[in-house]
Amino acid sequence: MNLARRTMNAPALAAVYEKAWRPTLFYLASGRTTAADRRDAVTALHLDGSKKILDIACGPGNFTKYLSNALSGDGYAIGLDYSEPMLARAITDNSGPRVGYLRGDARRLPFADGTFDAVCCFGALYLIPDPIAATREMIRVLAPGGRIALTTSHRADTPFGHASRIVGGWSGLRVFTTDIFPKLFAENGLVGIDQQVHRLLQYVSATRPQ
Ligand SMILES: C[S@@+](CC[C@H](N)C(=O)[O-])C[C@H]1O[C@@H](n2cnc3c(N)ncnc32)[C@H](O)[C@@H]1O
Repeated sequence: MNLARRTMNAPALAAVYEKAWRPTLFYLASGRTTAADRRDAVTALHLDGSKKILDIACGPGNFTKYLSNALSGDGYAIGLDYSEPMLARAITDNSGPRVGYLRGDARRLPFADGTFDAVCCFGALYLIPDPIAATREMIRVLAPGGRIALTTSHRADTPFGHASRIVGGWSGLRVFTTDIFPKLFAENGLVGIDQQVHRLLQYVSATRPQ
């Protein structure tokens, strides 16, 4: 297990992730606040009413609970993660009437095709050993008309971007080029593909056609 994956399994990180680790590191990487990321996630996923959401690699549930607040009726959000310490934190800090947590591997989702109206994966694809398989799984469980959104690393074609790739390789974090996710989405029939790049992070979303 590489350094990045070991870190995500550490109880000490789970304890400080939501309040300190994520706000600081993501702000440095993208110039964006967690509040802005959360608001934009609700917009990108078109959340409302009785929708069913799957939040992959949910960590301590720091987005899962927030996303569930946009729902009503029979709507619910499931957070899935591999790390037991992260899930223990999610249950303690981010439980709610429309939220559930599940231990699982993003590369083999335990759900039937087309189960969810919204599927997201924020701040995790760069940690997953086979990020393309994980992204295909996200698309597989997305219902017709559903929305998919991801936030992950981005390698700019600049000296700083090349340095980030070297540091990423050393720590076990992958750094993705601009074209990889829009191309993968298009190859899998998704439409309305939107991509925004903020410094070292990319935000990509799309719709599965009806
Ligand atoms: C940096 S946290 C992201 C938490 C949250 N989504 C956010 O944006 O702040 C990354 C999470 O990915 C999880 N993870 C890594 N590989 C995974 C896999 N193969 N399946 C499920 N979760 C995984 C880690 O356990 C960790 O909780």
